[in-house]
Amino acid sequence: MTAAVRLKPSAFNVKLRHEGRHLAFNSIIAYSLEMSEAQARVFNDALDEVAQSGSCKDEALLRCLYALGFVVPADHDELAVQRAVFQATKASTETLRFTIAPTMACNLHCSYCFQQDFAPCKTMRPDIERGIIEFARRKLEGCKTLVVQWFGGEPLLRYKRIVAMTEAFQRVCAERGVNYYAEILTNGVLLTPEIIANLPKLAVKAIQIPLDGDVDTYARRKGVSRERAQAYHDVLVDHMHALVDATGSVTIRINVDRENPAAGYDVVRMFKRKGCVDPRIDFRLGFLNNRDGIVDCIPHDCLSDVEFSDTEAEFRRFLVEQGYRVYGEPGPRKFPCSAPLRNNFTIDPTGRIGKCVPVIGTDESVFSCIYPDDIARTMRETSISNAPYSDFDPYGSVCRNCELLPVCLGSCPRSHAPEHSVICPLKQGLAKTLAFYRLHG
Ligand SMILES: C[S@@+](CC[C@H](N)C(=O)[O-])C[C@H]1O[C@@H](n2cnc3c(N)ncnc32)[C@H](O)[C@@H]1O
Ligand code: SF4
Ligand code: SF4
Repeated sequence: MTAAVRLKPSAFNVKLRHEGRHLAFNSIIAYSLEMSEAQARVFNDALDEVAQSGSCKDEALLRCLYALGFVVPADHDELAVQRAVFQATKASTETLRFTIAPTMACNLHCSYCFQQDFAPCKTMRPDIERGIIEFARRKLEGCKTLVVQWFGGEPLLRYKRIVAMTEAFQRVCAERGVNYYAEILTNGVLLTPEIIANLPKLAVKAIQIPLDGDVDTYARRKGVSRERAQAYHDVLVDHMHALVDATGSVTIRINVDRENPAAGYDVVRMFKRKGCVDPRIDFRLGFLNNRDGIVDCIPHDCLSDVEFSDTEAEFRRFLVEQGYRVYGEPGPRKFPCSAPLRNNFTIDPTGRIGKCVPVIGTDESVFSCIYPDDIARTMRETSISNAPYSDFDPYGSVCRNCELLPVCLGSCPRSHAPEHSVICPLKQGLAKTLAFYRLHG
């Protein structure tokens, strides 16, 4: 930056108040400032001066504002640049992403599950499995990484098939000189010491397991006996160290509503009692939300956006007190979820190929299929330029004037459909969130 360069305030500056203090945040750099009344006056006056004159007499202050992203060159079209970065990310074929549901069947009956009414599907047929491997082999041309997310239903019901498919993916990746790793979302009930010990071989680098609170709460919400719930909790706590070591990242997702707002505390205390404190465990609350969600209604008294954000803020503070790392600091994102990415595909047990992970197993977002005897056709159909969500552009959406766009990217692309409405999970409680991560980030 030289004195001759005309400047302007960034379009992605956010100003907030929190407990009598002033906060300023820039969404591109993802940096926040906390200021007193007097400091905020200096900060705001400087930004006003820059807006009016393109510069600021206090050069040292101007340099700081520039370095922190609060001011940018006047001829810099931030929106266009961010938009171009997002379009390039969407079009990139560097990483091939598959979300595979080897079955839609499940061994639990969670009272809130959006997949409750799915007809349990048989195991994925061997020819569909072979078709997926061949699809991967052809799609991997020119790629650097294959990422598989195992999903369901309950994926561990088909553990042996996961092992067999992983071996096949790993062979194909070795042939092509491509990296391979996997993630899994599982209810965890079928985890055994043997399966945990095998996770490194399966290249599973992240696992997410939902827990809903103490043993009684879990039993009630998951539709199992108290004894079974107790046995499962015991196994999980006893094997958490091994699970963390095997994968490197364990997310414990605690789905909360008005019936179990304190569930997060019970779950964390349970692990703490056993001395299980590891920065690789990510305890996070899950928002059960029936408004514009995947299903019209779930039989739960859901929290409002504001209530959830307050509950989450309290929970974050508790995690710090208990010595756990708190994930989820707002930062620049490359994509809101994988749906708009060109090289991302969901595959259900019947071989239907779609884009949106939570609706896997339904017709929604399906645009092709694994044709075991005609993978060339699968390749043609999945190479079209107008796949579902391919035209998603948060910078041209209802969010286009939002200062938080680079860190939110419009939240859920599905919620931008005319029949839905966009929920702003990040906006709720943003001041509290930023103040928290200033201290604990
Ligand atoms: C559908 S499950 C499939 C994988 C596996 N059976 C499991 O429970 O993790 C994937 C995730 O969706 C979450 N989920 C299910 N129903 C939900 C709902 N109505 N709202 C929000 N999340 C939900 C579950 O908590 C779980 O973390
Ligand atoms: S374990 Fe997963 S798939 Fe099964 S009912 Fe619960 S949330 Fe749904
Ligand atoms: S969803 Fe809300 S917070 Fe996110 S970019 Fe859109 S308007 Fe902003």
